[in-house]
Amino acid sequence: MNYAKITDPCSPYTFSRIEKKIQNRTVLAAMTNMQSHKNGVISKSEIDWLVERAKGGFGIITTAATNVSIEGKAWNGEFGTYNDMHIPNLTNLTEKIHQFKSLVIAQLFHGGIKSPQNITGMIPISASAFNCENSETGKCRQASINDIQRIIKDFQNAAIRCVESGFDGIEIHGAHGYLISQFLGTKSNIRTDEWGGDLENRSRFLIQIIKSIKKVVPENFIFGIRISPIIENIGINLNDTINLIGILKKLNLDFIHLSCWDVFSKMDFKKYKNKTLTEIILKSHTNLPAIISTGNVWSSLDAQRLMIQGADLVGVARVAIPYPFWASDISNQNYNPKKPPFSEDLLYKAKLSRKFIEYMKNWEGFVK
Ligand SMILES: Cc1cc2nc3c(=O)[nH]c(=O)nc-3n(C[C@H](O)[C@H](O)[C@H](O)COP(=O)(O)O)c2cc1C
Repeated sequence: MNYAKITDPCSPYTFSRIEKKIQNRTVLAAMTNMQSHKNGVISKSEIDWLVERAKGGFGIITTAATNVSIEGKAWNGEFGTYNDMHIPNLTNLTEKIHQFKSLVIAQLFHGGIKSPQNITGMIPISASAFNCENSETGKCRQASINDIQRIIKDFQNAAIRCVESGFDGIEIHGAHGYLISQFLGTKSNIRTDEWGGDLENRSRFLIQIIKSIKKVVPENFIFGIRISPIIENIGINLNDTINLIGILKKLNLDFIHLSCWDVFSKMDFKKYKNKTLTEIILKSHTNLPAIISTGNVWSSLDAQRLMIQGADLVGVARVAIPYPFWASDISNQNYNPKKPPFSEDLLYKAKLSRKFIEYMKNWEGFVK
């Protein structure tokens, strides 16, 4: 094994199942940016922001989370994949990105209890009916079996639209407490039917989404899932996550994307002491698909340190906002760009629209 090569984020990578090659190991992680149209059509501003990062050399460009059902929209300005009218502009996005060497992946999601009624006009749906400040009734609605089947179909149809729009693949958003995580968590899912209870039942929604999509997308379409290894408030713990990965790895996925928030944070878990989430997960399983890990990578050295932990691909979000060319710039081993705050002018030059800059003001200390 060539040790030096596999810790180099600039080295190419090939997804083994489909033999699809990426120019390097860098992944622009999904970032909601609120720049698109009310009817879910992706806007020129959102396209320009993503294309600039393709120009900047990212191996994979992941779109913002895109809602697969009308009632699954969580943010104003979010682009959708729930209607065929979304296809022409999405095709424009993928064609523009493919002019550079990046692959482009759509992140499919449903917000569940986090989809406010004042955005969707509908009472939010979740695994179970909990108190919900985003609902006029003060509660969300427990998804009926019909809702579940319909939303699975919505994910499937959204995936078909992504194929038709020229995407290289999709990432199912099972992280950050949105609908899929709401089904996975022991605290957010207290159902007593086959969609709740033990891990097998709580993961049924996710597994059915994956299986239904597998039936309709081409064999060489990149297919991955993003998860949060731990979300305490909804009852997702590391033990369940490791068991979930055991279920997922039988499904012929191309990648599992770990959303860690801080890939360098160390923890003690069972026999693994003082290890990061990425290390623990990699040590708990063999024969995993590609592992993308994301959270708090900023410099070239950070990217290398994450690959030394064993990640196959390095995800970044915030650093790519002011630095669209981050993926190329890390070929300089000493690259360590300045941290926030950033001036509005710099962000504007980095192809963020005024709306996106306004949104970034909600991220404490990011905008000057
Ligand atoms: C502005 C912004 C929007 C985000 N939107 C999404 C999203 O749509 N989907 C998602 O899975 N994660 C989203 N995230 C989380 C990032 O993908 C990433 O996991 C997180 O920012 C940690 O990585 P970083 O330290 O490199 O920023 C968002 C982060 C930021 C800063």
